[in-house]
Amino acid sequence: MEIIDAIEQRRSINFFEPGREIPNEKLEELLEIANLSPSSFNLQPWKVVVVKDPERKRILRQCAFNQPKVEEASAVLIMVADPRGVEENLERVLESWQELGFIKAEMKQSYKEMAKNLYGPEDSLKRKIFAMKNTALYAMNLMIAAKGLGLETHPMDGFDEECIKREFNIPDDKIIPMLVAVGYLKSGVTLLARAFRRKLNEFVRYEKY
Ligand SMILES: Cc1cc2nc3c(=O)[nH]c(=O)nc-3n(C[C@H](O)[C@H](O)[C@H](O)COP(=O)(O)O)c2cc1C
Repeated sequence: MEIIDAIEQRRSINFFEPGREIPNEKLEELLEIANLSPSSFNLQPWKVVVVKDPERKRILRQCAFNQPKVEEASAVLIMVADPRGVEENLERVLESWQELGFIKAEMKQSYKEMAKNLYGPEDSLKRKIFAMKNTALYAMNLMIAAKGLGLETHPMDGFDEECIKREFNIPDDKIIPMLVAVGYLKSGVTLLARAFRRKLNEFVRYEKY
C-alpha cells in the first residue's frame, strides 16, 4: 500500500471482529516497523504492553471506561512513555553513533551533557514531555504501518491511568499517552464518512504565528 493511501484510509475503528486473532509474527512485524520512528537523540523512550489474552482485555476494558472495542479488538497495545529513557538508552545511542562514525569518542561526554540539559532532570515536566512526544510518534507510525499490513486501529485516551498501572504492573514513574486497539474491521460494518477536518487557513501560519 502506498504511504499516502495508508494515511488517507486510516480510521479509528469502533467495531472490530471479535475473536479474530492477529498472528504473533504479524504483530511483531508491526511493532518492529513502528520502531523505525524518529525520536529525540534516538533515545526511543517507549515501551509497549501487548494485551491479547481475553481475560486481560476484559480487565483493561474496565480501566478504559468500559469501551467495548478494548475487548473486541484482537490486541490492545498499552503505550508507555518512559521519562527514564535518557538514562536507559543514552550510552548505547552514543556508542552506536561512535561505531557508525557519526561522532568521535572524545565527543561522547559533551553529547551526554547536551542530552541531560535538553531533556531536564528525571522527574521534571520537560522529561515527561520528552517521553510523551516520542511515544506518540511511535504510536502514530504504528497506526499507519498497521494499514499497510491490512490491520485496523483505534487510539484511546479514555481510560483511568492509575487503574491500568495497577492492573498491568506499570511503574508509577511511567506515563500512558494512549492505548491503541489493533485488529480487523467487523464484517458487515460500513464506516460512516470521516468527520470534518479544519481548513489549512485555520491552523497554518506562514513565517510568524
Ligand atoms: C490520543 C487519542 C485519543 C483518543 N481517545 C479515544 C477514546 O478514548 N475513545 C474513542 O472512541 N476515540 C478516541 N480517539 C479517536 C478520535 O476520536 C478519532 O481519532 C477522531 O475522531 C478522528 O477520527 P479518525 O481517527 O477516524 O480520523 C482518540 C484519538 C487520539 C489521537
